[in-house]
Amino acid sequence: MTLELDLRPVLITAAEIRLTLLAVAFVIGTAAASSLVSLPESVRLIVLFVHLGSLVVGFGAVLSIDWYGLLWLRGRATLSDMINHAHRATTLTWCGLIGLCLSGMLLSPDLNSPLTLIKIGAVAGAAAVGVCALAAGRRLRSWRDNPPRQVMIFGLVLAGASQVFWWTAVVIGFLAREAR
Ligand code: HEM
Repeated sequence: MTLELDLRPVLITAAEIRLTLLAVAFVIGTAAASSLVSLPESVRLIVLFVHLGSLVVGFGAVLSIDWYGLLWLRGRATLSDMINHAHRATTLTWCGLIGLCLSGMLLSPDLNSPLTLIKIGAVAGAAAVGVCALAAGRRLRSWRDNPPRQVMIFGLVLAGASQVFWWTAVVIGFLAREAR
């Protein structure tokens, strides 16, 4: 049995690819720049608080968007409800992610640790998926309440990948703290 999918409705534009690369470069750049910064222990606690605050804002926004997605799949919200919510929560997602990267940079991550590198990879993945989700949102908007199957599958794959990346970063952040 062969599964043929017409991927034209979900094709990503050149501008979106550039934005994705920019987001990934920002995550890697802040991580690399962390070796140039070192904070006194007293300030570190405040920065850790900012890190966790950004986590609540960013991941909270992502969870709320995915929750709307589930409500839509179960027929308890319309596609417009979901897209409008995702559109409004986007600023919170990016503020959270940028806050996590900037505060994480000041927390002196151990760049020799494989777990830290996996975490940075996961954050870069979450940022890339975030840009693709913006693109998917734009496509979904044009299909009103009846999008083609490919667009729905693309949305589901993005939501699943985003959850995996965010939870990986959360678990590794927690483990690094416990190991300290
Ligand atoms: C999606 C993005 C991220 C999430 C969800 C996340 C999550 C976490 C969590 C849950 C903690 C544990 C805090 C605690 O238990 O008190 C933590 C700590 C930390 N995170 Fe992140 N983080 C993210 C991004 C980053 C980035 C981009 C960096 C570095 C560039 C970074 C570096 C650190 C460091 C150095 C710590 C402190 C670990 C320690 O105390 O040794 N994080 N993070």
